[in-house]
Amino acid sequence: MADNMSLPSAPLPAQGGDGGSLRSQPNMLLQAEGLHTYYGVSHILHGVDFSVRRGETIGLMGRNGMGKSTLLKSMLGLVRPKQGTVRVRGEDMTQAAPHAIARRGVAYVPEGRGIFPNLSVRENLVMAARAGADGRREWGFDRVMATFPRLGERINNGGAQLSGGEQQMLTIGRALMTNPDLLILDEATEGLAPLIAREIWNIIKTIRASGIATVIVDKNYGAVMALADRSVVLVKGRVVFSGSSGELSDNEELMHRFLGV
Ligand SMILES: Nc1ncnc2c1ncn2[C@@H]1O[C@H](COP(=O)(O)OP(=O)(O)OP(=O)(O)O)[C@@H](O)[C@H]1O
Ligand SMILES: [Mg+2]
Repeated sequence: MADNMSLPSAPLPAQGGDGGSLRSQPNMLLQAEGLHTYYGVSHILHGVDFSVRRGETIGLMGRNGMGKSTLLKSMLGLVRPKQGTVRVRGEDMTQAAPHAIARRGVAYVPEGRGIFPNLSVRENLVMAARAGADGRREWGFDRVMATFPRLGERINNGGAQLSGGEQQMLTIGRALMTNPDLLILDEATEGLAPLIAREIWNIIKTIRASGIATVIVDKNYGAVMALADRSVVLVKGRVVFSGSSGELSDNEELMHRFLGV
């Protein structure tokens, strides 16, 4: 994707630590550093670093309960980390509300489905529409319809009348209507029949090719690694691997030790 962002013409004041280096990285969309997150007294994330650059596809993997969803929520303002920082486009958003982070171009498709069951497919999509963080309106109703022909056949159906796969498509369609720079997908294919799951994977490929950065959490590690530029693996709330997907998929010992496959 063409990157039209440029550094500010006036030099920024020199800063110590990572803040300074971040400001000189205009391609950085999301950067978490040293996150520690708790639920009550349970210490879930133990100093996690995670970053996404413009246009990147990142696979976030780990077995059940290792902290993947907690990491996503900690970066999205849905769960407050006790320690660490979250920056969106270089700006400190650690204490920001979820909608403020979304406004800066980060869309989130949570585990389970996020649609309005009493509204039609059309209404679900139209009410989500807005320009991207930089004013772009590349994604609108027609493009989402073209990407999800199946939704076109159900355009006046209520959300509750859709199949699981169609609801998931609608959830992703709603996220695209916000013209995000980054789309975060948590278990988008969970519980779907293989054929529908394959459709979702093809849609994720289309989204990736359109230049939107993606973070993909999915139990289908093979599919994740085939798409991701970089893979990150969590074990008990710690990053145990961060590197090229090929490096991970080619290493049977790591795959077994970290992912149990
Ligand atoms: N709201 C909560 N309150 C208390 N503990 C929680 C809460 N949500 C998650 N946990 C615990 O935090 C740990 C990490 O959970 P998390 O949902 O982040 O894992 P995950 O890697 O996304 O797992 P899965 O693959 O099953 O979705 C687990 O031990 C889980 O039981
Ligand atoms: Mg999860």
